[in-house]
Amino acid sequence: MKWMFRGKDFLDIADFAAEEIQYLLQTAIALKRRLMSGERLRTLEGKTLALLFEKPSLRTRVSFEMAMAQLGGASLYLGPEEVGLGKREAVKDVAQVLARMVDAIMLRTFDHNTVLELAHHCEVPVINGLSDLHHPCQVLGDLLTILEKKGKVQGVEISFVGDGNNLCHSWLAASSVLGLNLTVSTPVGFRPDAGIWEQSETLIQSRGGRLRFEPDPRFAVKETDVIYTDVWTSMGKEKEAEDRIVQFRPFQVNRDLLSRAGKEVMVMHCMPAHRGQEITDEVMDGPFSVCIDQAENRLHAQKALLALLLG
Ligand code: CP
Ligand code: NVA
Repeated sequence: MKWMFRGKDFLDIADFAAEEIQYLLQTAIALKRRLMSGERLRTLEGKTLALLFEKPSLRTRVSFEMAMAQLGGASLYLGPEEVGLGKREAVKDVAQVLARMVDAIMLRTFDHNTVLELAHHCEVPVINGLSDLHHPCQVLGDLLTILEKKGKVQGVEISFVGDGNNLCHSWLAASSVLGLNLTVSTPVGFRPDAGIWEQSETLIQSRGGRLRFEPDPRFAVKETDVIYTDVWTSMGKEKEAEDRIVQFRPFQVNRDLLSRAGKEVMVMHCMPAHRGQEITDEVMDGPFSVCIDQAENRLHAQKALLALLLG
């Protein structure tokens, strides 16, 4: 299975097969175990990863940098001021130059087309570290978290509550590939991209899962196993924040919403969280929250990804 990943890009979970994602998750579990047992790995000795950021980050930057370090490789952070992707220099020039110097590139940007363009012109693997359309690395870590806590991902009831954003799109992609049971609940006007939804609906059903849209979050979380939420205002949409706070208020993950879910419900948030908006302190810090485990699992999932793409 390893060879199926080697040299590929990782732009969208939908580009991969169920067996590949499952293999990646098993690799992550094995790597996590080896780290915990104190083993030192040199899998990526001599390999380098460039981290191109056009937006801020804590988890993505640190998890990728530590992943490379723990596998014996090196990473290089390039912030927005340094590169000026598409402004100081054309995306295709950046792609070609970096490909001569590093073994892989991770990009966090705004327009998903920039990710596609970089990958198109680049001879080394490109990893999508978040675009306005997708955040596939986050969902890898989340799938790992669900697998660890629930023992499986298929058949687990997952309710995505909030904005039909990049995270929601990557959940739709993962559900399409793996045949998950996903319920999405957003305010009117904030539903996920119609094209992604339509494609996912057919694929999810054909793979034994179920996709449902439920406008009322109270019904969306009824007896669910996982409540997933994310910020109401994603990076780049800050001008809409005030209006969004009003429209999204009924979608807050609070004690009342939690009481409608299953008894073993798990609350997930990719973080950073806007406490007091999409999630209350009480829920975020409470016994049902697995947010910090999720953040940690970014490291283990991405180590597996890097080992498979570059190993
Ligand atoms: N969840 C996530 O991607 O966090 P950062 O924005 O801090 O990288
Ligand atoms: N939807 C959020 C995710 C942050 C990790 C954003 O794009 O800002």
